[in-house]
Amino acid sequence: MDAPAKIAVVGTGYVGLTTGACFAHLGHQVVCVDIDIDKVQRLSVGDVPIFEAGLAELVEEGLNTGRLAFVANTGVGVRDADFVYLCVPTPPSTDREGNADSSAGLVDLRALESAAREVGLHVRAGAVVVNKSTVPVGSARLVAKAMGRSDVTVVSNPEFLREGSAVSDFLFPDRVVIGATDRGAAQRVAKLHQRSAAPTIITDPATAETSKYAANAFLATKLSFVNTIAAVCEAVGANVADVLSVLGHDKRIGSECLTPGPGWGGSCFPKDTQALVRMAADAGYDYSLLRGVLAANDEQFNRVVNKVAAVVDLARATIAMLGLAFKAGTDDTRNSPALAIAERLLAAGARVQAYDPAVTRVEGTNIALARDAYAACEGAEVLLVVTEWDEFKTLDVAQLAGVMSALNVVDARNIMDAEALLRHGFDYQCIGRG
Ligand code: UGA
Repeated sequence: MDAPAKIAVVGTGYVGLTTGACFAHLGHQVVCVDIDIDKVQRLSVGDVPIFEAGLAELVEEGLNTGRLAFVANTGVGVRDADFVYLCVPTPPSTDREGNADSSAGLVDLRALESAAREVGLHVRAGAVVVNKSTVPVGSARLVAKAMGRSDVTVVSNPEFLREGSAVSDFLFPDRVVIGATDRGAAQRVAKLHQRSAAPTIITDPATAETSKYAANAFLATKLSFVNTIAAVCEAVGANVADVLSVLGHDKRIGSECLTPGPGWGGSCFPKDTQALVRMAADAGYDYSLLRGVLAANDEQFNRVVNKVAAVVDLARATIAMLGLAFKAGTDDTRNSPALAIAERLLAAGARVQAYDPAVTRVEGTNIALARDAYAACEGAEVLLVVTEWDEFKTLDVAQLAGVMSALNVVDARNIMDAEALLRHGFDYQCIGRG
């Protein structure tokens, strides 16, 4: 390895903490900065507040080797750095009452601007400031302006990691994208990723920023396509698993991100697709295709609700919801399809008893949390699977039949043992099979 770089990472969410811990693992000297003092104190003793495979181990390794430190003071964190990574949240803008309005597609850049301003006060001349936060096209300029430093270069380096596999996605990326007007600075950033041997695309900032939205919009489109083909399969009596296997073997389509489900969610796809529709509209292009992708996703939540409504009267039903996280492998419930579906069931009068192995709290809802899957099923008339946790694949069907008050399963992830359920007298519905 070349001489270790001095790297500061501002923001310790999924992206920032993964970036910091992975760079320390690669031998660099890293300081992570966060304005949340409690979080900094917890991280400084190796207490990682998010559920992410392999991340706690890397944080511990970084602390033990002395290559990773956490501070709450931006000045202290960035003053010696050769590279400063901005990894702060860029949530949907809120309205006057403080409610997030993601459907407007506006992005709240206040955290980014304020971090850039603070970095501008302390960063040393010649450093490269790398923006990893997902930001509308033109934000590299906004960062440069907020910093107000002509002796510091801003580079856009979008992150493509997925929650649940963040560490391996960071260390072994499919590609690295660097947008910069200063090619020398871009090459310095590229060098930090040399070991991954990933294809590296060096381009201008606007193209790098657009590519991030384009990637998420394409994947969301693929998933809405999959879910709508599943609806067609149900209507015509075809088997979606076989249809998608045929598609997945076509190298032009690829077999990843091709699993039907209750609809897609998370902290990125919904926000980023809405933002791209908005950015396009502001630039004079009506992105009707992507609007359709979003509408199909909302429809998918309703299709799951309708499957439940087909077997019980929602106004008086008790529903066992298995899963709350937006996907397996994470405790993140932001824009989770589970919550969207639960809200619709609750609004129709149902009682929702939920269990998720990684989620112990959900705020602002009437969902009742159960200690395990069987407790969630106690007295329920429908078992509804919304997150694809492994442990739901091997539930004891006889035990479920013993505790439920009616034998109905809606498996929105197609993961349960349909034959075993049918053998025990369950009515079984899934996605994409008539
Ligand atoms: C997504 C992208 O996959 C990352 O490349 C990107 O970096 C990230 O957003 C981001 O912008 O930060 P993530 O939100 O962690 O990553 O989750 P995914 O694994 O892509 O899943 C998104 C949603 O699609 C989930 O609700 C998941 O259950 C659903 N999904 C995914 C399916 O229903 N079927 C699939 O085959 C794959």
